[in-house]
Amino acid sequence: MILQEYMNTCRTRVDEQLKLVLPESSIVSPKLAEAMTYSVFNGGKRVRPLLVYAANKALGGQAHHADPAACAVELIHAYSLVHDDLPAMDDDDLRRGKPTCHKAFDEATAILAGDALQTLAFEALSTPYHFPEALLSDTARLALFRELTSASGHAGMCGGQSMDLNSVGQALNQQQLQLMHNHKTGALIRASVIMGALSTDKVTDEELDTLTTYANAIGLAFQVQDDILDVTADTETLGKQQGADDALDKPTYVSLMGLEAAQHFAEELCQEALTALSSFDEQAAPLRQLAEYIVHRSH
Ligand code: IPE
Ligand code: IPE
Ligand code: MG
Ligand code: MG
Ligand code: MG
Repeated sequence: MILQEYMNTCRTRVDEQLKLVLPESSIVSPKLAEAMTYSVFNGGKRVRPLLVYAANKALGGQAHHADPAACAVELIHAYSLVHDDLPAMDDDDLRRGKPTCHKAFDEATAILAGDALQTLAFEALSTPYHFPEALLSDTARLALFRELTSASGHAGMCGGQSMDLNSVGQALNQQQLQLMHNHKTGALIRASVIMGALSTDKVTDEELDTLTTYANAIGLAFQVQDDILDVTADTETLGKQQGADDALDKPTYVSLMGLEAAQHFAEELCQEALTALSSFDEQAAPLRQLAEYIVHRSH
């Protein structure tokens, strides 16, 4: 199957599942429910759910077992973007071509929508009735929880976001920048791949090691490409303000090594990811194609 077809199938799949998980309305706060739905269904690429499904497939898993993980990781991602755009953080007005959550609603609602999306992610992982077909063992569910909590918190995405905010106006060296990117973006990308594997309920330690090497490479590559696109793409294609990193004086791979070297580095990381998968068979084709997509995407 060509990647485009696979991506469309997985996107439709995760969107259908997300609709079941998100509150349709709320008697307590219709505004909060609306802000949550707005922040999830505003046109994301769904890269993380795609990685969940592709890693699951690479190990011969069945997509319906990966649904809880795919939804949970996208909900954490959506929350991270809502908070990332807040005035106290990157102060952005545009996300996925639409007003950011705090612009469409208000700041307090955006903070709460982020909080509620985060907790909903763990509800999705723990509530079998949302996903009657995903017959995961309690051991697998617990492993999924552990993976997602550690990837989201102080030793993962939040830690990286804090380092990002504390690095404004500073020239980080490559080691520091890599540490920041590996946390703020790499952690959730890695969790996506690992959670896809854990959802098969039969992954070996060796397979987890291989997938971790792959995921570390594409996780870093994803943020390097994000830094590149902030310089090379236009606002309309990006769906977010072009040049925002420069305007905020953020250290990025482009500011560290220049555009060409950053592009070269992203290619190297892609090759590293592909090499890691060399022992995997044809079932890993989408995972391989996703590595290419991550460094060649236009938004
Ligand atoms: C943007 O992530 C934020 C980063 C971690 C760089 P994506 O590029 O995956 O954003 P969406 O979900 O497609 O909007
Ligand atoms: C955000 O990184 C990473 C997150 C954890 C949300 P960026 O700040 O570079 O993401 P964009 O460019 O706003 O999407
Ligand atoms: Mg940011
Ligand atoms: Mg940002
Ligand atoms: Mg960015």
